[in-house]
Amino acid sequence: MAQEDIFKKIISHCKEYGFVFPSSDIYDGLAAVYDYGQNGVELKNNIKEYWWKSMVLLHENIVGIDSAIFMHPTIWKASGHVDAFNDPLIDNKDSKKRYRADVLIEDQIAKYEEKIDKEVAKAAKRFGESFDKEKFLETNARVLELNEKKNALHTRYAEAMQASNLEELKQIIVDEEIVDPISGTKNWTDVRQFNLMFSTEMGSISDAANKIYLRPETAQGIFVNYLNVQKTGRMKLPFGIAQIGKAFRNEIVARQFIFRMREFEQMEMQYFVSPGTELEHFNKWKELRMKWHQALGFGAENYRFHDHEKLAHYANAATDVEFKMPFGFKEVEGVHSRTNFDLSQHEKFSGKSIKYFDPQTNESYVPYVIETSIGVDRMFLSIMCHAYTEETLENGETRVVLKLPAALAPVKLCVMPLVKKDGLPEKAREIVDSLKFHFNCHYEEKDSIGKRYRRHDAIGTPYCVTVDHDTLKDNKVTLRFRDTMEQERVDISELRNIIEDKVSIVSLLKKLQ
Ligand code: GAP
Repeated sequence: MAQEDIFKKIISHCKEYGFVFPSSDIYDGLAAVYDYGQNGVELKNNIKEYWWKSMVLLHENIVGIDSAIFMHPTIWKASGHVDAFNDPLIDNKDSKKRYRADVLIEDQIAKYEEKIDKEVAKAAKRFGESFDKEKFLETNARVLELNEKKNALHTRYAEAMQASNLEELKQIIVDEEIVDPISGTKNWTDVRQFNLMFSTEMGSISDAANKIYLRPETAQGIFVNYLNVQKTGRMKLPFGIAQIGKAFRNEIVARQFIFRMREFEQMEMQYFVSPGTELEHFNKWKELRMKWHQALGFGAENYRFHDHEKLAHYANAATDVEFKMPFGFKEVEGVHSRTNFDLSQHEKFSGKSIKYFDPQTNESYVPYVIETSIGVDRMFLSIMCHAYTEETLENGETRVVLKLPAALAPVKLCVMPLVKKDGLPEKAREIVDSLKFHFNCHYEEKDSIGKRYRRHDAIGTPYCVTVDHDTLKDNKVTLRFRDTMEQERVDISELRNIIEDKVSIVSLLKKLQ
């Protein structure tokens, strides 16, 4: 099945099974804003718990905060967001649609990659087992030509972005003959800068002085609290501050479901270090964050780093952790070495010293910062994309199963009486009542057992148990495993032992040690 079709199925699955709904659905939705349903919120909370605990439980020098969304407007001047948090936009005069010029060009680069992949697939089919991919890539004339075009475009694009050269971006779009996917025409406006911050007014008087912004990243709330935390927590460098919270960006092109939203959630950690040690810490965090992702068991081949060639003027290293989504490898997380830029800017704009006194060297300085920044929603999407599986069973039926890591699954156990009579519902409820304190248990009695299993496969419930007439005599139930569909007769008293460890976030955290 084409990757595009799979992605469409994942989006409708998310809606059908209570994971993600379009926001304001009964009013036909609000572009690039989504609500999480009854199962989505559980999965999202589990992702957040996994991240939070991996930061503040596993590192004794990392603490958390929860700063306000509204912040002093000068913060955004100091951070550079008022002047430079822009995307280059371009309009198509025929469709009247607005696009990000950089995204149009990146899509064009991806098209060259797709064409190369197609050549490889064709050759692999033609040559069968004797196919040598490396050699083919190095020698095939068509592939070499496509690669050359792709690399030339990439270089030209990177230079234009680095120089914020809007005319050059437009010229690339013209030269590459990029067409509007809706109108199919090349009738483009010039490229303009567009600031991504949402603003509103605070207080009752509407005037420019009361203008405040909805934060476009949570990081600034950490920077401006850095000294409060350092002093009250008596923290010594290196130390980190973690935060989870909403961020808002007026994205020009909001696409790919919850991949690019206008209201989203970030999990960010700023790690404060002494000057000169930042690259060592950057490399350590790069490794730790990849380990965190790979502990989910989705396969190392589905991740890669994308080291930034073009660095922001304040950064001295940056990388993205990319995950293979149905629409290609995409950024899920950024790890950035941000030097002392943000803290120095806040020192300058606030007029207050935020230097750290180092008791070891007897010096005062502004710390350097390594940042790890991950979008909860993007993480959610990557998990859904990997977990969504369609299987053909022996009887020819198709089973849709979400192969979620058990520790992230919204529901851990569903308890089902075989029939709605003969004391079986009461026995099933007894089991739920004893286990619900330890993990999320559901009770289900509607429809056949087969249908109930399917419903729980579709939301990723790792365990189901069936209570039957024998249960009343021997206190045993049938335990069914989601992925293998194998069934085992077990004593009710053993259920907690069998399930609890496997569905606990601790099982993931232990893999990080
Ligand atoms: N403080 C650094 C920062 O905000 P970023 O690369 O702009 O860096 C970090 O964002 C992460 O936030 C991204 O890797 C992505 O996971 C998530 N993110 C950014 N914009 C987003 C959007 N519009 N919708 C969903 N997630 C987004």
